Amino acid sequence: MSELTRFGVAMDKDLLRQFDEYVARRGTGTNRSEAVRDLIRDALVDTEWEASESEIVGTITMVFDHHANDLSEKLDSIQHRYFNEIVSATHVHLDAHNCLEVIIVRGASATVRTIADMLLGTKGVKHGRLVTTTTGASL
Ligand code: NI
Repeated sequence: MSELTRFGVAMDKDLLRQFDEYVARRGTGTNRSEAVRDLIRDALVDTEWEASESEIVGTITMVFDHHANDLSEKLDSIQHRYFNEIVSATHVHLDAHNCLEVIIVRGASATVRTIADMLLGTKGVKHGRLVTTTTGASL
């Protein structure tokens, strides 16, 4: 981290009370400053994400029934199409029918979003989410 700079923030009392509760829920070893820094980084990651050319890394998590209409095959075929962006994939057989797959993706944000939309939008995927992150190098 580079040199720290202090700045003041004016805030509604009730909002600050709720923020302090949020900070307390995060547990010991954290404080207002740390919480504000994390929230700012999150916001900047979201902004970076909007710039479709910038590179992002993330995970796509999905749960699906592999018996449902050739789902495994369809999901695999999407992943093979984007082999450049898909870093790794872990498949867990949750029970006799359901599978959990976590895929690590890295690439242009627009492409990563397309991959996530295609996978999560495939009929039969019960639940899923794309979580993006950053190395923080540019933040
Ligand atoms: Ni499975």
